[in-house]
Amino acid sequence: MTQSAKLRWGILGAARVNERLLPAIVEAHNSELIAIASRRPGAALETLKKYAPQQAGVRCHDTLEALLDDAQVQAVYLPLANHEHAEWALRAIARGKHILIEKPMALTVADIDAIEAAAIRHQVVVMEGFMYRFHPQHDRVREIVQSGLFGEVKFVRASYSFMMRPARMYRLAQNTDLGGGAMWDIGPYAIHSLQLWFGQAPVAVSAMAKYASTGADIATSGMLDFGDGKRGHFDISFECARRSQYEITGTAGTVKCHTVWQLPGDVPVISWSLDDGRRGEEQLLAANHFRLEIEHFSDCVLSGKPPLLTLDSARTNCRTINAVLKSAAAGRVIQPET
Ligand SMILES: NC(=O)c1ccc[n+]([C@@H]2O[C@H](COP(=O)([O-])OP(=O)(O)OC[C@H]3O[C@@H](n4cnc5c(N)ncnc54)[C@H](OP(=O)(O)O)[C@@H]3O)[C@@H](O)[C@H]2O)c1
Repeated sequence: MTQSAKLRWGILGAARVNERLLPAIVEAHNSELIAIASRRPGAALETLKKYAPQQAGVRCHDTLEALLDDAQVQAVYLPLANHEHAEWALRAIARGKHILIEKPMALTVADIDAIEAAAIRHQVVVMEGFMYRFHPQHDRVREIVQSGLFGEVKFVRASYSFMMRPARMYRLAQNTDLGGGAMWDIGPYAIHSLQLWFGQAPVAVSAMAKYASTGADIATSGMLDFGDGKRGHFDISFECARRSQYEITGTAGTVKCHTVWQLPGDVPVISWSLDDGRRGEEQLLAANHFRLEIEHFSDCVLSGKPPLLTLDSARTNCRTINAVLKSAAAGRVIQPET
């Protein structure tokens, strides 16, 4: 493709998350927002006016196909509902578009395999949208964990929750097979952050869930076995106070990241304690991980670098989430399918 200083983006869907991602694309130094589409007439324009009122020259399409047919669009940000990710990702890739797919990339590993095969065929970049990974606070946590003072990582706890507001109850309208519920919505963060700190996939999972009458989970907790006594615990919920945190415990101490879901301007806090009595708390510089994610993706396309978040990691995440759902439904320990 022709190299340009800025990657030309289109947004496929007038989703709520555009509140964060649309300004991020506008602000990213190597990106340009040129189009947005929605199947609801007028919703694309309304979204643009709401989140980037000063932005001129953005084409607003009333069908998703029209955006994919827009030859000027080089990269697509895909924030459609979870069960629509694979289908629309494949359509975008077939038109030669690079694509950033919101988490979860897809509901099945087979769909991720199909996305990978299509991406190879059409020579495009694909990445799953875990914006949190682009916040520098996790690099600082890694430095602390790898300092040698904390010993070998043995246990990681990840907690993500918020009180579901009545206006968002549609997230519980579909059962978990169709991508509804907490495990497909906030569960991906929990599973991804446990796997991040163990650097591998779990060998077994055990989970419990509370369900809505639709078959969507409202809250799920569980244990991931990473082998050799290494365990990850997660709890996610739509009916608890807001939390987005993880805590890593090694043989000699514990490190905690207090707020993973950083909003622009939030102050990141990391605290730690050692068995020898030393403890500390650090306040880091604020950073906009949504913008950093977009800049990373654009940089990968423009300079040919591989994305930080790989398709293998998307597969591992998907496989683990499906194992968690299966374990909660069956009430027994499940080995994720390879
Ligand atoms: N990275 C993050 O921080 C973050 C945060 C939240 C969600 N997410 C992810 O982003 C994706 C979208 O989540 P979301 O909560 O933003 O989705 P959402 O608002 O429910 O929108 C998803 C899609 O549903 C359609 N839609 C929206 N409102 C509608 C309405 N009132 N009536 C009919 N259709 C409607 C839209 O498609 P059309 O425009 O074509 O109608 C929209 O693109 C999910 O995969 C989620 O996991 C990521």
